Parts: sequence; C-alpha cells; structure tokens
Amino acid sequence: MKKKIYTSICILTGVLFIALINLSAGKSIPSKSGQEPESPFPPEVDQVFNNSCTACHGIDGKALAKSHLDLSAWNDYSASKQKSKAMDICKEMSSGSMPPKAFKKAHPELVPTDEQVNIVCHWSESLRK
Ligand code: HEC
Repeated sequence: MKKKIYTSICILTGVLFIALINLSAGKSIPSKSGQEPESPFPPEVDQVFNNSCTACHGIDGKALAKSHLDLSAWNDYSASKQKSKAMDICKEMSSGSMPPKAFKKAHPELVPTDEQVNIVCHWSESLRK
C-alpha cells in the first residue's frame, strides 16, 4: 500500500514537472520570436493581407490608402469600426476593386485567389457575430 502511494506521488510529480516545463516553454515562444508584433488577424487572413494589401495599407504603406484603411493600426480601431472595415475589405476584394488594377497588373502573382477572397470574407462575417 505504501509503495503504491509512493509510486503515484512519483508519477504525479513527474506529470506536474513535465506540465510546468511545457508551460514555460510555451510562454517563452512569443518572447523568442518577439521581434514580430502579434498580428490581430488569423494566420490565413494575415497571409492574404501581407501578400496583397500591406504594401499600401500596412505600416510602410501609402498615406492615401492608410487614411482609408490602416491594417497596421487595426487594434486601435473600435470593435464597430473593425466590423465595418472588415465588411468593406470583403466588398472591395469580392468586386475586384482591391488590390487596385495597377497593382494587379504589376504583381499578377499577388492577386488574391477566389479562395483567398472567401477566407477573408468568412473572417469578416465572423466579426459580425
Ligand atoms: C497599390 C496600393 C494598394 C493596394 C495593394 C491595396 N490597396 Fe486598398 N486602397 C488603396 C488606395 C489608394 C485607397 C483609397 C482610394 C480608393 O478608394 O481608391 C484604398 C482603399 C481601400 C479601402 C477603402 C475603400 C473605401 O471606399 O473607403 C479598402 C477597404 C481597401 N482599400 C482594401 C484593400 C485590401 C483588402 C487590399 C488587399 C487585398 C488592398 N486594399 C490593396 C490602395 C491599395
């Protein structure tokens, strides 16, 4: 009986120890890759924006584009502004207005695919709930 208790305490301690290591390892990941500020967008949406939008609407973007939509300041937008901007984004991409014609001509490989437009629009809808 004593031996059983001893064994289970050993196992428990072991499990706790491993859990602690995992926890601290998990916590240290953001600080290791901490140079990149965390994106407010889901990864698959972020990728589309980074490919096709941030050249104008990102941190080093153009003033005119940023005055309409600044993806680098997304977290500063109120929740309702985020919702309406996300709807605009879906609308502009679905109609093919964004990215602009000249950009699409210069970077045909960066034109969002239908699937990517869908991903962004799904995300936009999810914000409205
Ligand atoms: C080559 C630069 C450029 C790129 C790339 C670009 N935009 Fe724009 N965008 C602009 C400019 C300039 C404006 C403001 C003038 C206008 O509406 O044409 C704008 C306006 C917008 C607006 C606001 C429209 C409105 O009516 O206020 C949205 C939303 C938008 N862009 C979304 C996007 C999205 C999403 C992408 C990527 C898929 C993208 N843009 C890529 C330049 C760009």
